[in-house]
Amino acid sequence: MLVTLASRTLSLYVLISVVLAVSVPPALESRASGACTLEASGSDDAPAILAAAADTSCPTVTIPSGTTLSIQSKLNMTGLSNKHIDLQGTIKFSDDLDYWKDNAFTFSFQDQAAFWLLGGTNIVLDGGGTLDGSGQAWYDAFAKDDSTVRPILLTLYQATDITVQNIKMINGPEWINFVNEGKNVVFRNITITAVSTSSNDAKNTDGWDIFRSDNVTIADSNITNGDDCVSFKPNSTNILVSNLSCNGSHGISVGSLGQYAGEYDIVENVLATNIRMSNAQNGARIKAWAGKDVGSGIVKNITFEGFVESNVDNPVIIDQCYETSSSDCTKYPSNTYIEDIWFTNISGTSSGKEKAVVASLSCSPDGRCSDINVNGITVTPPSKYGEPSFQCQNVDVSGDDASLFGTCKTTS
Ligand SMILES: *[C@@H]1O[C@H](CO)[C@@H](O)[C@H](O)[C@H]1NC(C)=O
Ligand SMILES: *[C@@H]1O[C@H](CO)[C@@H](O)[C@H](O)[C@H]1NC(C)=O
Ligand SMILES: *[C@@H]1O[C@H](CO)[C@@H](O)[C@H](O)[C@H]1NC(C)=O
Ligand SMILES: *[C@@H]1O[C@H](CO)[C@@H](O)[C@H](O)[C@H]1NC(C)=O
Ligand SMILES: *[C@@H]1O[C@H](CO)[C@@H](O)[C@H](O)[C@H]1NC(C)=O
Ligand SMILES: *[C@@H]1O[C@H](CO)[C@@H](O)[C@H](O)[C@H]1NC(C)=O
Ligand SMILES: *[C@@H]1O[C@H](CO)[C@@H](O)[C@H](O)[C@H]1NC(C)=O
Ligand SMILES: *[C@@H]1O[C@H](CO)[C@@H](O)[C@H](O)[C@H]1NC(C)=O
Ligand SMILES: *[C@@H]1O[C@H](CO)[C@@H](O)[C@H](O)[C@H]1NC(C)=O
Repeated sequence: MLVTLASRTLSLYVLISVVLAVSVPPALESRASGACTLEASGSDDAPAILAAAADTSCPTVTIPSGTTLSIQSKLNMTGLSNKHIDLQGTIKFSDDLDYWKDNAFTFSFQDQAAFWLLGGTNIVLDGGGTLDGSGQAWYDAFAKDDSTVRPILLTLYQATDITVQNIKMINGPEWINFVNEGKNVVFRNITITAVSTSSNDAKNTDGWDIFRSDNVTIADSNITNGDDCVSFKPNSTNILVSNLSCNGSHGISVGSLGQYAGEYDIVENVLATNIRMSNAQNGARIKAWAGKDVGSGIVKNITFEGFVESNVDNPVIIDQCYETSSSDCTKYPSNTYIEDIWFTNISGTSSGKEKAVVASLSCSPDGRCSDINVNGITVTPPSKYGEPSFQCQNVDVSGDDASLFGTCKTTS
């Protein structure tokens, strides 16, 4: 797809150059190239980038190296086709909290908001440049008032055949990437840093959240953030996550699912492989709600393999009684079933926060988890806690390491 787009861009460029050289006065040539190559205006650059994106005579929109575009108003960049955004410089969103509070795009799903919607078909965002969310003001505002709705840095909204690569994403106020109703989506060689410089943490800075999307790849990237590294929200299917270094996160997480009454959530066919997980709350995690008045769903065919963990609180975890007391979970088991799960080749060290426990597979009663497989789990706790401990509840564990878990307590 990249090759096609690049060669199409090139042939169009050659064609335009020839036409311009032959018949068009120079003034038009410079105006045409000026519209597709953006420079900082000194005020809000949102109108110029929106105009270039909408202009079908700009197959490539370039933000040159050394240029910082200041975005002071929301970017609705949906419905594009055959567009290459060559971000060599920086797109920086303003920290005008009052403006964004009233004007950011909103999503009813988990009360999210966004600076920028990017969508359509056959899109490439690359160039080696930076998206800067000016997050510090938001981290500080959120610490004072946790009802502050902080915008997502990059939202792919109804995007098909889209590649985002070779980009640095810094200072995201909240979630960094939201893939909403996408298909055939690739992220590659992304560097995410969401770190607060004050005493207020950069909270809820998920690296990626995938929602109602199919066929998504996230690869070859480094993430330092303060919440999930990658999270599979309702209706994420056929997902490959590979070769990530996640630092300080809440792990690679399925869920939480089955939260909202009347909704059916599906997460199916996920492979997370070759993951380095450091200084994290979780490594490989699945969480689903139980209790009264919650939703339902299915988590099926999920593989976590080749995780190297370091200083992780919960290296391997299934929690099918998420946010539910054990008595309520017995009374109202989760309606989100968990099936065909593989934890394979998971090594490294836990933090000791859960003392000797390095794996915890905790399901609702009544067989709500099935075909749960563990092979090659060699995570160890800090030496002062002795031998690693493996816990489980209401589940039959299979695989080479099943015996480590012993017989799980089965309530009915
Ligand atoms: C974005 O722009 C498209 C096309 O103009 C429009 O249909 C859509 O409603 C806009 N979306 C939002 C959330 O404003
Ligand atoms: C990865 O992205 C960076 C920019 O963030 C770029 O300098 C580097 O060349 C890219 N690597 C590859 C293999 O494309
Ligand atoms: C999934 O997306 C990739 C990357 O865009 C594409 O090459 C592949 O054909 C897609 N697979 C399916 C089954 O559509
Ligand atoms: C990730 O970090 C490794 C080790 O520091 C480095 O070699 C690699 O280029 C980084 N990749 C990205 C996408 O930041
Ligand atoms: C993993 O990603 C890094 C960039 O962070 C890249 O340099 C390296 O080649 C990738 N490794 C594999 C096995 O693809
Ligand atoms: C991991 O995150 C910590 C805390 O933000 C930071 O100090 C450290 O440099 C990060 N490590 C890497 C390899 O990025
Ligand atoms: C997920 O997909 C199923 C089947 O298409 C649908 O019934 C359900 O409403 C979807 N859930 C969400 C949260 O979109
Ligand atoms: C399970 O998921 C993997 C990874 O997405 C996929 O390759 C495989 O075909 C799926 N298996 C089934 C039986 O659907
Ligand atoms: C286990 O995972 C590590 C890290 O991803 C990888 O280097 C190693 O080859 C894997 N071992 C096996 C037996 O697959």
